[in-house]
Amino acid sequence: MSIAAYEAYARQLETLVTDVASGHWRRVANDVTHALNGQASAELRRTVSRADRRATGSFFTTGRVLQSYQELLARSTAPGRTPVIWDPTCGGGDLLIAGTAQFPLGATPAKTLTLWNRRVRGHDLHDPFVTVARMRLVLAVLERHRTVGSEAPLMEHRWRTAFPQVQVGNGLQALREASEGRGFGGRLLLNPPYGMDAALPGCTWSTGKTSLAATFTAQAAAAMAPSGRLFAVLPDVLRSGSRYRAWRGQLAERLEMEAIRPHGLFDDHTDVDVFLLSAIRRAGGHPGAVAWWPPSAVTTDSALGNHFRVGVGPVVDNRDPHDGPMVPYLTAKELPGQGEMGLPLRRRRFGGRLLDPPFVVMRRTSRPGQGAKGGARGTGILIQGDQSVAVDNHLIVAEPLTGGVARCRELLEVLDGPKVVHWLDERIRCRHLTVTVVRSLPWG
Ligand SMILES: C[S@@+](CC[C@H](N)C(=O)[O-])C[C@H]1O[C@@H](n2cnc3c(N)ncnc32)[C@H](O)[C@@H]1O
Repeated sequence: MSIAAYEAYARQLETLVTDVASGHWRRVANDVTHALNGQASAELRRTVSRADRRATGSFFTTGRVLQSYQELLARSTAPGRTPVIWDPTCGGGDLLIAGTAQFPLGATPAKTLTLWNRRVRGHDLHDPFVTVARMRLVLAVLERHRTVGSEAPLMEHRWRTAFPQVQVGNGLQALREASEGRGFGGRLLLNPPYGMDAALPGCTWSTGKTSLAATFTAQAAAAMAPSGRLFAVLPDVLRSGSRYRAWRGQLAERLEMEAIRPHGLFDDHTDVDVFLLSAIRRAGGHPGAVAWWPPSAVTTDSALGNHFRVGVGPVVDNRDPHDGPMVPYLTAKELPGQGEMGLPLRRRRFGGRLLDPPFVVMRRTSRPGQGAKGGARGTGILIQGDQSVAVDNHLIVAEPLTGGVARCRELLEVLDGPKVVHWLDERIRCRHLTVTVVRSLPWG
């Protein structure tokens, strides 16, 4: 992996710390501001290829999502307290810097380091990230002292050895060790890698390829001692996907959720929707229901699933053999943006389940706030005709239980209404609509 290219930025920060620690602020004040505000992430994008960033799950928390994260932390931190903070996948240290924002300062930068060194823990697999995190933490100390007028030079050996508990290591393993010991009772700050990997041996809530973010969070919950707190940025699919229902259930047994906030895109360069979570570990677990969705997005009795049979189209084109009867074959390509259509012209042989019109289809890949070809997100298209149809698995199908075409037209109106568009954006920010979500859409 070319994370090694980031080493040059780590060296650049050491040079900057050399200047600032010896009191040469005037020349470099702007550089410090940049180093503490988004530069680490911009340098990562500049020096490390997108493929390598993806492969290593390296996306640093900056901008709007960092601001929301800081607000979440500030809400539950009494000023002047210094709980131990730990980011087991610390990258360039953005969450750790946010975590120290309320820490009190000592009389001098050296005294502050003496106080903070024992309270800041971090792990990352990559040495340049760890150096960058440590140097940025030192800059944050020096910057805060400057702001309150108590700057004093800091000896080189002090900053070179600062934050010794921010170190190269496997955060997942460190969390496992904590869960086997006394547990971690401080603040766990988490924005883990989002890639997929095999579920850990003994995992009770998933098998096979599983989001690493889910694995890290479950391991973090297990590692926390009673009263420990978790503040996490996580991919939205964990909050809204039916694939992670069991994960949510397990988390809710251990943690009392304080806030679950859908956020939207992680940043302008990263096409992943995220949410923020803060939670507290309770000794006896948490028996109550957990609001993973805002109240307006919770299912009511009159849900769409009471009136329609909802499922995914049965045809997986590149897997299903071309045998059986030759029938009209409906895929997303044939669909207009909205409205109604007759039988598709495209045909294929298919021996599996066919659907009898009238029924309504929706694209599974609609994005928050917009739909394809000018339709709203979740817009349905009514299919009519007098032959059975093979439907592609990129479409969700809703077949009316009663009421035929009239009931389908009612559904088109419901789906285009502002209530559903808003509901969908709150309930499921990630790209794919799911059958569970469509079934629970508000009806009437
Ligand atoms: C999404 S980034 C977030 C970094 C930082 N927490 C933040 O919010 O800015 C995830 C980080 O996890 C690191 N990472 C991936 N697997 C890890 C592991 N097993 N142990 C420690 N760090 C890991 C990556 O190198 C990357 O820096």
